Amino acid sequence: MKNIKNVKYLDKLKNLGYDLDNILIVGSGTMSLFGLKSNNDIDLWVTKKVYAKMLKDSRFSPNGKMLETKDKLIEADYNFPCVKDKVEDQLKRAVVVNGFYFQSLQDVLDWKKCMNRPKDREHVKMIEKYMKTNIVESYLLELQELNLIFKEFDYSYYEANLKNLDKQLFDSTYDRQSFRKWLVKAIVALIQQTPVGFYTLKSRNNNPKICSIHSLGVEPKYRGKGIGQKLIGHAIKTCIAFNFKYVDLGVDKDNKIAIHLYMKNGFKIIEEMKTRYILRKKL
Ligand SMILES: CC(C)(COP(=O)(O)OP(=O)(O)OC[C@H]1O[C@@H](n2cnc3c(N)ncnc32)[C@H](O)[C@@H]1OP(=O)(O)O)[C@@H](O)C(=O)NCCC(=O)NCCS
Repeated sequence: MKNIKNVKYLDKLKNLGYDLDNILIVGSGTMSLFGLKSNNDIDLWVTKKVYAKMLKDSRFSPNGKMLETKDKLIEADYNFPCVKDKVEDQLKRAVVVNGFYFQSLQDVLDWKKCMNRPKDREHVKMIEKYMKTNIVESYLLELQELNLIFKEFDYSYYEANLKNLDKQLFDSTYDRQSFRKWLVKAIVALIQQTPVGFYTLKSRNNNPKICSIHSLGVEPKYRGKGIGQKLIGHAIKTCIAFNFKYVDLGVDKDNKIAIHLYMKNGFKIIEEMKTRYILRKKL
């Protein structure tokens, strides 16, 4: 499992005084974080802006187009071979520990596969073995590492990406007309473009003060990681932003996990039916 104490020379990096959120620690730094190998130095992929600053920084000297500190323990570049995306993209899905941004293990793996030198092939085997034995997709799913992005979705997105999940979770789906007619807002939670959960909000024609959470669900394999909590928090904020005064929802009486989640977030039972409760939260 990951342990920041495994990674050498982070203090040196910190002491340089650069904004850490523009600096990606790549390759062996990440492998060391996950206890896969020990790092002999720290390789950085930095934004062009940071690189330009480092170029003028007397603590760095050029080695080819790369920059390195005098003790050669920290190396920086703004451009790496074999990467398809930009450093800004990889920073978004980095593993952030104590303010340091580590390249995600998946990105290290992709890079090493592409480089394909003998040592890369050896590292690919180590990373793949680690990923297989750490069932929880360890590098992605630990809560503090979740790079969860919320996005509004339209019917086309729903049809292509969420309709099956909706059917599986709620045994009902929207058609184009009901989607347009009913919904105030439809939000999907994404991890690296993968939809992991969603919610939809409806308004009540008979009471403009009340917003209803119509469906809220998390893809089964991503449950128990705090995504449900983040979705409900986001839904509440959205209802507040639309100036609703109350948010309601219906939940099956035997859905203990959902009821616990809603109660924890300040919902109270306002109506009891045979198999369902109606819950409400004052905003
Ligand atoms: C309800 C649901 C959205 C929760 O999503 P989730 O991402 O697993 O929830 P979280 O990880 O944020 O956990 C929320 C709370 O439920 C608890 N919880 C989650 N899974 C649990 C489980 N299997 N058993 C017991 N408690 C559980 C968590 O411990 C947490 O409570 P805590 O903060 O007090 O510890 C998800 O189970 C789901 O999609 N269910 C099917 C659809 C559904 O029923 N939606 C609600 C209809 S109204």
